[in-house]
Amino acid sequence: MQEISDVRYLSKRVAGLKPSGIRKFFDIAATMKNVISLGIGEPDFTTPVPILEAGVRSLHAGETHYTSNAGKLELRQAIADNLKRLYGIQYDPQSEVIATVGVSEALYLAMTALLDPGDEVIIPTPCFVSYQAEVILAGGVPVEIPSRMENNFQLDPDQVRAAITPRTKMIFIGYPNNPTGAVADRSTLSQVADIAEAHDLILVSDEIYDRLVYDFQHVCVPSLGESVKRRTVLLGGMSKDYAMTGWRIGYAAGPEHIIKGLVRVHQYTIMSAPTSAQDAAVEALRNCEVEVQEMVAEYDRRRRLIVRGLNKLGLTTFEPRGAFYAFPQITASGMDDETFAEKLLKEEHVAVVPGNAFGAGGEGFVRCSYATSYEKIEEALQRIEKFMNRYG
Ligand SMILES: Cc1ncc(COP(=O)(O)O)c(C=O)c1O
Repeated sequence: MQEISDVRYLSKRVAGLKPSGIRKFFDIAATMKNVISLGIGEPDFTTPVPILEAGVRSLHAGETHYTSNAGKLELRQAIADNLKRLYGIQYDPQSEVIATVGVSEALYLAMTALLDPGDEVIIPTPCFVSYQAEVILAGGVPVEIPSRMENNFQLDPDQVRAAITPRTKMIFIGYPNNPTGAVADRSTLSQVADIAEAHDLILVSDEIYDRLVYDFQHVCVPSLGESVKRRTVLLGGMSKDYAMTGWRIGYAAGPEHIIKGLVRVHQYTIMSAPTSAQDAAVEALRNCEVEVQEMVAEYDRRRRLIVRGLNKLGLTTFEPRGAFYAFPQITASGMDDETFAEKLLKEEHVAVVPGNAFGAGGEGFVRCSYATSYEKIEEALQRIEKFMNRYG
C-alpha cells in the first residue's frame, strides 16, 4: 500500500513547487539557542497603539461578521483616499479596489483571474519568493530576468524586451524590492510601461513597501499616466508599512473589469477579509502618519548601521533605499550563499537568507533584514566579523 502522503496524489503543479528557501533556515534556527535573526521579513515593531485600539473597539462593537466580498466600503474609501493623497491617483472605491487577506491573497487572485495555462509572466529577480509559485499555481510560466548590483538592481528594459514572446501576458514589478532594498526610478519604470503598452501586456506592481523609503520619493506605477493605470494591477497592504503582518489586510486596485475578476475568485475562496482587521486598517490609513514616520526613522538608523558594517567587513553591500533589507555580496568569504548562510548560522548563530531563494541573480548574496533592534544588529555584525576573520 502506498502512503497516503505519497506525492502522486498531489497535482503536478503543487508537487513541482519548490519549498521556500527561507523556511529551511527558520527551521534550523528554531532548534538553536541565542540566535540573532536577520532572516525575518516582517517588522519587529508591534502594531501602533491607535490601530490596536481600533481593532479592539471593532470587536466589542460586534464587528464579527462577514463583510461585502470586496471589503468594507469605508476601508476601500480609505485606500483610495490614501493613494490620492500620496500619489495623486484616483480609484473608484466602489468598483476599482478590493480588500484582501494580505498582498499574498491579492497576488493569488491576480494570477488566478488573469492567467490561462501556458501564459508567460516576466518576473524580474531577485524577488519575493511567492511570485514564481503564484504564477505556476495559476498554470502560468514564470520567465525570470535577473537584475544586477552593478545596475543598482534596476529593471533593465532591454532584458524585458528580449524576454517577450507571443505567450507573454504580464510583467511583474516589485519596488521597493524584497530582497535587494532597491527602489525604481521614474524613467526606467516609464520605459517598461511603454513596452507593456506596445505589446499589450498587464503590469502587476507589488508596492507593499511603498512607505518604507529613505531619502527617496516612491514612484507608484499607475501614477505614470492614465494609459499605464489602465493596464496596471496595483498591490499594496498594511503588513510592512504599518507593522500589521498578523492582521492580514492587503488590497488590489486597478481597472474595474480586472478587479471584478479578482472579486469573483475572492468570493469563492475567501469570502471577505477579516472584519475587525479591516476596521483597524482604516485607522492606520487615516490617522497613523506620525507612527509610520517614526518607524521609518528607526529603520533608517539601522539601515545605515548595517550597510556601513557589512561593507567594512568586505561584504560589498549596495545601498538599499527602500524596504528593510540589506543584500550583501558574500563572494569575499569564498563560499556560495547557501554554505555561507548555513555556516554562519551554525558557527555564529546569525540567521540570514541565501540569495538564491529569491531567484536568478540572487546567487552570491544573502538577505539581511534590519527589522530587528539596533543592538541586535550591532551584535550580529560583531559575530559576522569573527566569521569573516576565519573565512574572509
Ligand atoms: C514583496 C512582498 N510582497 C508581498 C508580501 C506578502 O505580504 P502580506 O501577505 O503580509 O501582505 C511580502 C511579504 O514578505 C513581500 O515581501
